[in-house]
Amino acid sequence: MASTCTLSLILIILFTFTINASSSSLTEADILLTFKSTIEDPMNHLASWSNTTTIHHCNWTGVTCTTTISSLSLQNLNLSGEISPSICQLTGLTTLNLADNLFNQPIPLHLSQCSSLTTLNLSSNLIWGTIPDQVSQFKSLKFLDLSKNHIEGKIPDGIGLLTSLQVLNLGSNMLSGSLPNVFGNFTELTFVDFSQNPFMESEIPSGIGNLVNLEHLLLQRSGFYGEIPKSIVGLKALTIVDLSQNNLAGVLPSGIDDSFENLVSFDVSQNNLFGSFPNGICGSLKLTSLSLHTNNFEGALVNTSVANCLNLERLELQNNGFHGDFPNNLWSLPKIKVIRAENNRFSGEIPDSISVSSQLEQVQIDNNSFISKVPHGLGLVKTLYRFSASLNGLYGELPPNFCDSPVMSIINFSHNYFTGEIPELKECKKLVSLSLADNNFIGDIPKSLGDLPVLTYLDLSHNNLTGEIPLELQNLKLALFNVSFNKLSGRVPSLLMAGLPALYVQGNPDLCGPGLSNPCPNDDSRQRIGVSKLACALIYLALLAGILSLAFGFFVYRRSSIQNLETGIWRSVFFYPIRISEQDLIMSMDEKASRGSSGPFGRVYVVNLPSNELIAVKKMPNFRNQSFKTLKTEVKTLAKIRHKNIVRILGFCHSDDSVFLIYECMEKGSLGDLISKGDFQLSWSFRLKIAIGIAQGLAYLHKDYVPHLLHRNVKSKNVLLDIEFNPKLTDFAVDRILGENAFQSSFDSKPGSSCYFAPELGYNKKGTEQMDTYGFGVILLELVTGRAAEPVHSSEESLDVVKWVRRKVNISNGPVQVVDPKISSSCKYEALGMLEIALQCTSVMPEKRPSMSEVVAALQRLGSKTSVPSLDMSV
Ligand SMILES: *[C@@H]1O[C@H](CO)[C@@H](O)[C@H](O)[C@H]1NC(C)=O
Ligand SMILES: *[C@@H]1O[C@H](CO)[C@@H](O)[C@H](O)[C@H]1NC(C)=O
Ligand SMILES: *[C@@H]1O[C@H](CO)[C@@H](O)[C@H](O)[C@H]1NC(C)=O
Ligand SMILES: *[C@@H]1O[C@H](CO)[C@@H](O)[C@H](O)[C@H]1NC(C)=O
Ligand SMILES: *[C@@H]1O[C@H](CO)[C@@H](O)[C@H](O)[C@H]1NC(C)=O
Ligand SMILES: *[C@@H]1O[C@H](CO)[C@@H](O)[C@H](O)[C@H]1NC(C)=O
Ligand SMILES: *[C@@H]1O[C@H](CO)[C@@H](O)[C@H](O)[C@H]1NC(C)=O
Ligand SMILES: *[C@@H]1O[C@H](CO)[C@@H](O)[C@H](O)[C@H]1NC(C)=O
Ligand SMILES: *[C@@H]1O[C@H](CO)[C@@H](O)[C@H](O)[C@H]1NC(C)=O
Ligand SMILES: *[C@@H]1O[C@H](CO)[C@@H](O)[C@H](O)[C@H]1NC(C)=O
Repeated sequence: MASTCTLSLILIILFTFTINASSSSLTEADILLTFKSTIEDPMNHLASWSNTTTIHHCNWTGVTCTTTISSLSLQNLNLSGEISPSICQLTGLTTLNLADNLFNQPIPLHLSQCSSLTTLNLSSNLIWGTIPDQVSQFKSLKFLDLSKNHIEGKIPDGIGLLTSLQVLNLGSNMLSGSLPNVFGNFTELTFVDFSQNPFMESEIPSGIGNLVNLEHLLLQRSGFYGEIPKSIVGLKALTIVDLSQNNLAGVLPSGIDDSFENLVSFDVSQNNLFGSFPNGICGSLKLTSLSLHTNNFEGALVNTSVANCLNLERLELQNNGFHGDFPNNLWSLPKIKVIRAENNRFSGEIPDSISVSSQLEQVQIDNNSFISKVPHGLGLVKTLYRFSASLNGLYGELPPNFCDSPVMSIINFSHNYFTGEIPELKECKKLVSLSLADNNFIGDIPKSLGDLPVLTYLDLSHNNLTGEIPLELQNLKLALFNVSFNKLSGRVPSLLMAGLPALYVQGNPDLCGPGLSNPCPNDDSRQRIGVSKLACALIYLALLAGILSLAFGFFVYRRSSIQNLETGIWRSVFFYPIRISEQDLIMSMDEKASRGSSGPFGRVYVVNLPSNELIAVKKMPNFRNQSFKTLKTEVKTLAKIRHKNIVRILGFCHSDDSVFLIYECMEKGSLGDLISKGDFQLSWSFRLKIAIGIAQGLAYLHKDYVPHLLHRNVKSKNVLLDIEFNPKLTDFAVDRILGENAFQSSFDSKPGSSCYFAPELGYNKKGTEQMDTYGFGVILLELVTGRAAEPVHSSEESLDVVKWVRRKVNISNGPVQVVDPKISSSCKYEALGMLEIALQCTSVMPEKRPSMSEVVAALQRLGSKTSVPSLDMSV
C-alpha cells in the first residue's frame, strides 16, 4: 500500500515536471483538451470542447474567463474517468466544481499544484480513500466541499493548516475516529459540516471557540459525544446550529444564550442533554411577560437584553432530559415558527403572551411536566397548524377560541387534566386530527364537529362525556372515532356504525345499536329508513347533475374546438414521428374516444393514428400563464424522461385555449380501471411486480432524474399497464406545464375530494415527495385489498379504502381480514408485509412516511421475506 502511494507520488511529480516543461507552448484550449482526454463523458456534454469548433474556448460548456480561464463548473454532467493535474497549467484557475458526477478515485491531491485555486467542489461523487495529511498542501483553498462521497478514516491534523478556509464541508461520508483539535487557525471559517458521518466518535473540540466568524455549525447524525464545549458561547455569528442525533450529554453551557443574537435555527434534539435550559435565555423573563402590545414599551425591550433571539425561527430540544421551567419568553419571539421540546421534563406554563407570536406554526411539547391552563392567547395565533401537548399537567377549561387558527390541523391534548365542556369548534376548517383522550371533559360532544370537512381522527376516549353521539358526525368520513370509556347514551348513529369495530365505543354502557351488547328499542328503526331514503334521493340528484354537466361539457368542447379550427393558431412539437395533422387530431378527439374520468387537470382521449398506432391525448385548459417558450422547455424536460415505469411523452400541441399532451398508449388500460371493474383477479406476483414498478418510477422522478420532479397526481388511474402488466406512470408533473398557480387552482376547484390526497394538502398546497408517497400508499392498499380506492357505487356504507382499512386493522385479526381473499394463502405473509408498507406510506404525519427509494427496497425484500411482519399501526 505504502509503496504504491510513493510510486504514484513520484509518477505525479514526473508527470507535472514534463507538463510544466512544455506548458509555455500550450494554449488554454490545449490544456482544456488534455484535461478532457482523461475524462469519460458518456452523454457528450463536453461536445463543445473540441479543436475543430469555431466556438471560442471561453464559451465552452462550464468555462468562465476573466482575462484567462478563471472557473470550470462541470457539475452534474455524469462525468467520470480521471481528474488530471494538467488542469493546473491554467494559472488563473480559481474555481473547480465537479460536484454531482461519477468520479471514482481518491481525493485528487495533485490539484494542490493549482496555485490560484480557491474553490474545490467534489461533492456528490464516488470519491473514496482517506484524507491524507498532505491535504495541507491546498494552501490557497477557501471553499472545500467533499461532502456526499465515500471518504473514510480519521481527519488528519494537516487540515488545520488550511488557514484560509471559509467553507469546510465533509458531511455525509464515512469518516471515523475523533476530530483533531484543528480549529485554532480557522479564523475565516463561516461554514463547517461534519454531519452524517455515522462512524465518527469524537468530542466537539474546544478550539471551536476560535471560529469567531462561524455561521453554520452542522454536526448532526454523527458520533459526537461528551459535553458541548463552553467555548461555543462566544460564537456570536452563529445562525444555524444542528447538533441533533448525537450522543452529547451534560448541560448546555451557561451563557449560551449570548450566542443567540443571530441564531435562526438551534437543534440539539435526540441527545442525552439534561439540566435546566439557561434561565435568561433570549432575554429577561420578567420583561417579556409584561404586555408586548404596549408600543412605547417595545423600544425599551429591544434595547435591553431581550434583543437576543430576535431572529430565532426553530428551536428543537426534543428527546433529551431537560428539566426546569421552560423559558417563558420563547413563546412570543417575533420570528419563532417551530418549538419542539417533547419528551423532556420541562415544567412551566404556556403564557398568554403567546398571542404576540405572529409566525408560530408548530408546537410539540408532549410528555413533559407543564402545569398550565391553555391561555386565550393561543387561539389568537393565526399561523398555528399543529399544537400537541399530550402527557402533561394541563388543566382548567379549554378557551372557546382554542381552535381558531384558520390553518390548525393537528391538536393533541390527550392525557392531561382538562375539565369543563368541549367548546364548539367553528373556525378550524382544516382540522384533521383532534385528540382529547384521557381528560375530565364533561357535557355533550359538540355538534359543530360535524361541520369540520376534513376531520379524520377524533379521539375523545376516557372522559366523562354524556348525552347522545350527535347525528351530525355522520357527515364525516372518520378513519378513527374513539369515544370509549365515557358516559354516552342513546343510539349510535347508523352511518357511523358502518364498519366501525365496537371497540371504539366500548365502556359506554348506555349506548345502544346493532352490534352492541345493548340493542335499541324498536321504534327507532323508522329513522333509519328515513336516512337511507334521503341517501337514495341524494344519489339521484348527483346522477342528474352529472348527466347535465356532461352534456354541457360536450357542447362547450365542440364549440371551442370548432372555433379553434377557424382561428387555426396551433403550434405543436413532436418528439416522435406522429403522422397526423393538428386538425385531424382534434377531430378524432370526440366523446367516444374520451377515456376514464376527467380528473382535476383535464380529460384523456385515445386516438387511433392513420398508421394504426394508438396514442393518448390529454387535453388541458391553457391558463396562458406560461409563454410558448417556457411551455416547450417544460414539456421537453418531461419528454426526456426514459424509464421503464414512466410513460413517454410523444409531443404536444397548444392553442390559446388548450394544451394537448400526447403520450404513448398502453394495451391494458389503467390499473384503476382494472380494479374498479369489480372482478379484480390479478395473482400476487403480478401485484408485487406492479407495486415495485410504480415505486421505482416515483423514486426515479424524485431522486434520479434531473431536475427532480414530483408526480403530484399519484393514483391507480394514472398507472397504465402494458401487455405483460408492467406498470407505467402517466400524468406526472403537470404542475410544470400549467404553472404552479394554475395547477393549485385546479386543486382548489375540487376540495378534499380524493382519498389519494395526503391530509396535509389541506394546509400546504405545495407538493412534496411525502404527498406522492401517500398517493402511492393508497395504490398499495388497493393492490392488497382488491378494493377500488374510492367506492364505485356510493352507498350507505361507502368508505374509501384508506378509512376502510384503518377501521379494520386495529382489531385483532383485522390485518388478515383486509387482505384480498383472492390472494393465494401461501402469499398471505407477503401481502401483510405490503399492507404494513402501505400503512406507513399513508401515515397522517408526513414525516413518518418513508422515501420512495426506501419503499422500493422494502418491497423488493418482501419477495424473500419469510418471517411474520410486525405490524405498526400508528397513525
Ligand atoms: C484535434 O485533436 C485530435 C486528437 O484529439 C488530433 O488528432 C487532431 O489532429 C487535432 N486537430 C487539429 C486541427 O489540431
Ligand atoms: C461567447 O458567445 C457570446 C454570444 O453567445 C459572444 O457575444 C461572445 O463574444 C463570445 N465570447 C467569446 C470570447 O468568443
Ligand atoms: C450516466 O451515465 C451512465 C453510464 O456511465 C448511464 O448509464 C446513465 O444513464 C447516465 N445517467 C444520467 C442521468 O445521465
Ligand atoms: C458544491 O456543489 C454543490 C452541487 O452543485 C452545491 O450544492 C454546493 O453548495 C457546492 N459547495 C460549495 C462550497 O459551493
Ligand atoms: C496553525 O498554523 C500554524 C502555522 O501556519 C501551525 O504551525 C499550527 O500547527 C497550526 N495550528 C493548528 C491547530 O493546526
Ligand atoms: C416520555 O419521555 C421520557 C423521557 O423524558 C421517555 O423515557 C418516555 O419514554 C416518554 N414517554 C412516552 C410515552 O413517549
Ligand atoms: C396524541 O398523543 C398521545 C400521547 O403522546 C399519542 O399516543 C397519540 O398517538 C397522539 N395522537 C395523535 C393523533 O397524534
Ligand atoms: C364523572 O362525573 C361524575 C359525576 O357527573 C363524577 O362523580 C365522576 O367523578 C367523574 N369522573 C371523572 C373521571 O371525572
Ligand atoms: C380507544 O380508546 C381507548 C381508551 O383510551 C383505548 O384503550 C383504545 O386503545 C383506543 N382504541 C383505538 C383504536 O385507538
Ligand atoms: C396567472 O399568473 C398570475 C400572476 O402570476 C396569477 O395572479 C394568476 O392567478 C395566474 N392564473 C392562473 C389561472 O393561475
